[in-house]
Amino acid sequence: MNIVIVGQGAMGLLWHNHMQTFSANVASISLLPSPKQSQQAANNKTVTIEYSYTHLNGLSEQCNYQLAQISQLNNADVILVCVKSYQVKQVLADISDKLNKHAIIILAHNGMGTLHDIAHAILDQHTILALLTTHGCARPMPKHIIHTGLGQSDLGILSGRLSANITNTLTELFNKALPPVHWQENIIAKQWQKLAVNCVINPLTALYNIDNGEINSAVFSDLKVMLITELVQVAKAENFDFIATDLLNLVNQVATTTARNCSSMRTDILAKRTTEIDYINGYIHRLGLKHHISTPQNSQLLQQIKMLGQD
Ligand code: PAF
Repeated sequence: MNIVIVGQGAMGLLWHNHMQTFSANVASISLLPSPKQSQQAANNKTVTIEYSYTHLNGLSEQCNYQLAQISQLNNADVILVCVKSYQVKQVLADISDKLNKHAIIILAHNGMGTLHDIAHAILDQHTILALLTTHGCARPMPKHIIHTGLGQSDLGILSGRLSANITNTLTELFNKALPPVHWQENIIAKQWQKLAVNCVINPLTALYNIDNGEINSAVFSDLKVMLITELVQVAKAENFDFIATDLLNLVNQVATTTARNCSSMRTDILAKRTTEIDYINGYIHRLGLKHHISTPQNSQLLQQIKMLGQD
C-alpha cells in the first residue's frame, strides 16, 4: 500500500514511525508538505525531515520522514488525515483533485461533525474511515515526539464501502504498526463514546488548568452528570442509544488511566492555539438546536472555551 499522512503533529509522526518500522506491506509512506514546505518539496526533489522519538520505555531515537511529492499523492491508496477537526475540510479541499478515485481517506481526530464539512464531490468519490485512538503522544517541540501512553485504536467506515479483502488488509496494516487495532462495524457509536469522554475531560481541564485525573474530584460530579445527560438526549435524537451511567463510568475510567496527562484542549489553550471545541461540546450544542433539545451545560462550556481561547 502507498500511504500519505496529512499532518506532521504528534499523531501523524507516531503512525508514520510505527508503519514505517513494523508494517511490511507498506510500499511507500510520506507526509504531505505543509504550505510552508511546499516550495521545498516541488521539482521532484526528495526532502527528508529529521525528528526524535522518545519511546514508552524512555529511550529516544533519531528518525526521519519524506515529504510527499505530487506523484505520491496521485498513487496513494490511503490518505491518513491526522490534523485537528477544524482543519479537515480545508486539507481535503486542497488535495482532493490530486487523488486517484480509489484512495481511501482515514480521519483521525477528536470530536464529531467533520463529515458534514466535507464537499459532496469528495464523499461521492472516496470511502471515508475514522481511526479513533487512545494512545498518548505529545510533541513538546516541533521535531520531537514522545509516546506517553500505550492505548488502543478502532477503525471503521463513516461513509462509502470497502470489500472484505481491503478491510482485512487495512486492519492488519494498522495492527502490525501499533496494536491493538479493532475493526468496528459501527464506528459512529464508538465516536459517540469518545465524544462523551472529550466533552467532559477536555473543556474542564482547559478551563480550570488541571490534569485529567482531577476531573474525578467530587466538585465536578453534578456537572459531569448534566453534560452526559445532555449528550445522551441528543444522541438518542440521532438514533444512538446510550446509558448515561455507562458513559459516566467511561469518562471516570479514562480520567483515571490518563490521570497525569494534559488534555489536548488544555494543551491548545496553553499554547494559544485554536481548540476543537466546535466539534466537541459545539457538536452537542448544534444537535441540540437541530432537535430542539436544550443543552445548557455543553453550550455554556462552548462559550467559556471560546472566550478563553483564540477561536
Ligand atoms: O483529547 C485528549 O486529550 C484525549 O482524547 C483524552 C482521552 C481526553 C486524554 O487526554
